Amino acid sequence: MEIRSTTDQDLDVFVDTLHAAFGRFPEAPAEGGRVRWSALEMDRNLLAVTADGRPVGTAGAYSFELTLPGEILVPAAGVTAVGVLPSHRRQGVLTAMMRRQLTELRARGEFLSVLLASEALIYRRFGYGPATYTQRLTVPRHQAALALPRARGTADAPATGSVELLRRAECGEILEEVYDRYRRAQPGALSRPHRWWALGAGQPPICPAPRYVAVHRDADGVPDGYASYSVSEHNTLTVDETIATDDAVFTALARFLLGHDLVAQVVFKHVAPDHPLRWQLVDFRAGQVSEDTDWLWVRLLDVPRALTARGWFTDGELVLDVDDPFLGEQGRYLLTVRDGKADCVPTDREPDLSLDVSDLGSVYLGGTAPSTLVRAGHIRAHRPGAAALADALFRAERSPHCLHWF
Ligand SMILES: CC(C)(COP(=O)(O)OP(=O)(O)OC[C@H]1O[C@@H](n2cnc3c(N)ncnc32)[C@H](O)[C@@H]1OP(=O)(O)O)[C@@H](O)C(=O)NCCC(=O)NCCS
Repeated sequence: MEIRSTTDQDLDVFVDTLHAAFGRFPEAPAEGGRVRWSALEMDRNLLAVTADGRPVGTAGAYSFELTLPGEILVPAAGVTAVGVLPSHRRQGVLTAMMRRQLTELRARGEFLSVLLASEALIYRRFGYGPATYTQRLTVPRHQAALALPRARGTADAPATGSVELLRRAECGEILEEVYDRYRRAQPGALSRPHRWWALGAGQPPICPAPRYVAVHRDADGVPDGYASYSVSEHNTLTVDETIATDDAVFTALARFLLGHDLVAQVVFKHVAPDHPLRWQLVDFRAGQVSEDTDWLWVRLLDVPRALTARGWFTDGELVLDVDDPFLGEQGRYLLTVRDGKADCVPTDREPDLSLDVSDLGSVYLGGTAPSTLVRAGHIRAHRPGAAALADALFRAERSPHCLHWF
């Protein structure tokens, strides 16, 4: 079996192989054809081919920017389109593609990659760890009242803006611009390259499927948030995503969505687990959580570079023993944080924590407390207080959240 890079000429065979791996038939051109896949970067993708020339596996990568704690933007490979034909599974095809892909990412100078996992058992062995989480929040309309304004706080912020209702087809540029402002300040968020919006690739509201869009504007009329939604025949209003550049804008959009007449319930498909919305409802139990799940998985390819790239909010020193069994690497690093910046150098000092690179990926964006992984038996703490110090160090200015599907 050979793993080879693809070119634009391979697009059809790549997508056909991927569809077969997922047990899907190719979409008919009349139904939008391959629009979903039109943003694939064919110079970054891999095809596994048998000795007699049959394609049996695919793996791809997008070029994204990821927002790290401290509003720091770094390049991140978004691993995608991973599949192996049912006839060729459990023979090491994925393992070979992952090995080749990680080598290529490093050769390009990338120091981290991210992905969304179809199944949670697949990627940890390749060094990925779940790093951001998301929930679906369902609010019955009859319990949808938001807390009455009090003296201060986001729910009470005086309404200085306005909400305008548009059709998706009318407002692509506004969505692109607002999303871009939002993602630059949100740890864990990914860029959506212009090409995605221009091609209509991906899921709504990037693709122009019929949707209503509530656009929020500030007092000067500048768009600063939106919610993309549809209402089903059963009177469920489903929100694809609510993008807001601050909490008061989110509240204004939530108030609009929850106040929609002829709707039995409002479903927010993607809410960060610690989002204040549940606390803003008069009836705390009105917000029913479901699909509480991992979203973005992170894989560090260069530990010192990754740790020095992000922003830090507490001073301190930790020695980390990091094991990377898939790449056959091990390193011990002294992480020193001073005034928001980290230094990370090899050391032979005694370690504070021993951990797998996949666990370092999980804690990297600040969305998973190292102490939780110590208690789970993933991370080993070598002295009392090490886990608590790691919690304080790795915390981000706000919980990371990602809602981009790729
Ligand atoms: C997931 C998938 C790509 C795995 O490909 P594969 O070529 O069978 O994987 P490998 O043979 O390299 O497996 C490597 C190891 O991972 C394990 N593994 C692979 N897929 C697994 C899964 N879905 N669940 C649990 N373990 C899995 C294998 O058992 C093997 O373990 P071992 O080394 O202890 O024997 C393939 O099953 C597939 O295409 N599934 C459907 C599409 C999909 O879910 N793609 C992922 C999108 S994010």
